[in-house]
Amino acid sequence: MKRAILAALGLATSLALPAAADDLKVGLLLPFSGVYAALGNDIEAGFTLALDEFGSDTGVTFDVVREDTEVKPPVALGKAKKLILQDKVDVMAGIVSSGVLGAVRDMVHGAGVPLIVANAGNDDATGASCSPFITRMSFSNGQVNRPMGTWMYDQGIRKVFTLAPDYAAGRQMIDGFTQTFTAAGGEVVGQEFTPFQKTQDFGPYLAQAKASGADAVYVFYAGGEAISFVKQYDSFGLKAELPLYGSGFLTSPLYVNAEGPSAEGVITALHYVPTIDNPANAAFVAAFKAKTGRVPSEFAVHGYDAGRALVTAVQTGARDRETLAAALRKVSFDGPRGALSIDPATNNIVQPIYVYETVAGDDGLTQKVLAQLPAEADPVNGCAMPAVSN
Ligand code: BEZ
Repeated sequence: MKRAILAALGLATSLALPAAADDLKVGLLLPFSGVYAALGNDIEAGFTLALDEFGSDTGVTFDVVREDTEVKPPVALGKAKKLILQDKVDVMAGIVSSGVLGAVRDMVHGAGVPLIVANAGNDDATGASCSPFITRMSFSNGQVNRPMGTWMYDQGIRKVFTLAPDYAAGRQMIDGFTQTFTAAGGEVVGQEFTPFQKTQDFGPYLAQAKASGADAVYVFYAGGEAISFVKQYDSFGLKAELPLYGSGFLTSPLYVNAEGPSAEGVITALHYVPTIDNPANAAFVAAFKAKTGRVPSEFAVHGYDAGRALVTAVQTGARDRETLAAALRKVSFDGPRGALSIDPATNNIVQPIYVYETVAGDDGLTQKVLAQLPAEADPVNGCAMPAVSN
């Protein structure tokens, strides 16, 4: 009632009220503009679906305040400060870019606000900069790329040229792949990092790949950059000559149909594809399609599992920042991606990885699973989990 009166007076945003006992204020930090806007929208759709599906009988009202991080770390930091200090949220979820996660980490940790990471794979956030307040329900950059190094070597590929955008995620994803590919005996014969959010023409980099003597090209691109890259790779005439591999964000179901036939035959690896055959995924795909008219992407499942993790924490009785952070770290369930748990040493998710090929299906492009690689916890990467002090 008080909130309604304040809203009528136009004061609701400037005077934050403490939440009623069974209200939880949730800050959703996502890019709703910029190269990752579509990813942010899919994460939000998955998140709200989970709150509706799992949260309705908890007796808790989830009051979601959404903020647009764009793909700009300083903007995101300002929005995180607003959510924490002005809106006084109990918990935050979201973050797509590794650069943004790096920028908000100290603020989140210092304020002691639980953050459920619903995309950004920044290895440091569950490595050297880990925090009891940061729990990742998506993936880490190393986790989705390391298995492909070994798998590609086992397929007979010996020389690879790598490409990725020049920011934390691009560098960490390529590092993860390189570690296992070279450990197996493979050679990275060339590597380029393209200016992030600025590269329109990949031609000069594709020319280098062509001249490198590689057997294959391995890349990380996502969102609008993935669409441009896959199309240009094909129109440059490289597809037939040098097979294209990468982390599965390259051919996400979210935008693979915008890539069109250029994406056919590309082989990538990821922790989720909508064609995974298990009952939880069948139910999720049906519910997401009913809500949006589209098949869910990995981004949708991150949002969905982040929402489900929050509800699971609430079901243990957790209601404030500290108890929510503690409960989130213990979450485990069988979801659309298979069995999920949180590694207590790092707060990173443990999950299987799927190698898949993009193929033509009845309703456009689809994902043919070629291999399911076992779930592995990340190495601790320098994480000495700080104790919670109060
Ligand atoms: C990242 O910056 O961590 C990221 C962005 C898009 C897709 C995957 C990872």
